[in-house]
Amino acid sequence: MGVVRNLRQVSADDAGVDIAFRADVRAGLAQRQKAIPARWFYDATGSALFEDITALPEYYPTRSETDLLARHAANIAAAIGPDRAVVELGSGSSTKTPLLLGAIAPAAYVPVDISGDFLRDSAAALAAHFPGLPIYPVEADFTQRVALPREICPLPKLGFFPGSTIGNMVARTAIDLLRNWREALGEGSLLLIGIDRIKDIAVLERAYDDPAGVTAAFNLNLLERINRELGGDIPVENFTHRAIWNDVHARIEMHLVAACDMDFTVDGREYRMAKGETIHSENSHKYGPRDANLLLRAGGWTPIATWDDADPAFALILAEATEFRSAP
Ligand code: TRP
Repeated sequence: MGVVRNLRQVSADDAGVDIAFRADVRAGLAQRQKAIPARWFYDATGSALFEDITALPEYYPTRSETDLLARHAANIAAAIGPDRAVVELGSGSSTKTPLLLGAIAPAAYVPVDISGDFLRDSAAALAAHFPGLPIYPVEADFTQRVALPREICPLPKLGFFPGSTIGNMVARTAIDLLRNWREALGEGSLLLIGIDRIKDIAVLERAYDDPAGVTAAFNLNLLERINRELGGDIPVENFTHRAIWNDVHARIEMHLVAACDMDFTVDGREYRMAKGETIHSENSHKYGPRDANLLLRAGGWTPIATWDDADPAFALILAEATEFRSAP
């Protein structure tokens, strides 16, 4: 297996507290509409709960996307062609990545993930699955600029961004990310991206608020993580999970709702919440066909093929980093 580059150490203070986590929680809890960036969901407990979410009957995106990849593997492979370096944004999922790599005969695989542990596990699993394939894991935050391993420099590239993770960003951030990756991968590169569609509101809301309460546990774990890691005394039992469709923004929002008036302390600072007030913890934007194409074009990627016949609807879009032309 290849070398691990860009090894990123989490910065911690003397007490071992993640400085960025503390800064985000401090800033987020001081806002009028309290909000905490969704990246902090994924400690060990959160990551395990997220795996459980993907297996829920109500959570369709993982199944729809896997189904599209499996059913259209031959078409997708024909559109992409062989011998590309596949750069995956986020840790390689155990089912989707092998489906893609098995279909397209890639020249190299570069998983980019912020979690070194996840990265090493998935890289090892894939190495066993694809013995001849060079794998160059990069431990980095893919929302920032990432230096790619020099071994893949001369190869044509395919970015792979599954899971509708682009939907967890507001449009402006999503476009920044698409533009950054267009820069990093270079003109002529391809991008295979999973984007969830706008659909029946009941289907959407159930996917993010399942009757078994797994998504609720996932959301509430954020508060438990704050208590654990930042010395908080948030009364987690006095919060409930809420997932609602925001039609103006075309997104599912997840909130943690205060069930009563309360005071609590985090990291030595006091906070007060009134009954019904919320902490906004996640967005999941959904895109119609034209919306998705416009988003990609705004980010410098020209859509060239779409596979989106899964039910519930989900889109796999192949786009190309074409030369920029501002006029007809
Ligand atoms: N990107 C996926 C989605 O929006 C996965 C995801 C991110 C998710 N955060 C989540 C799923 C919170 C459930 C709950 O669907």
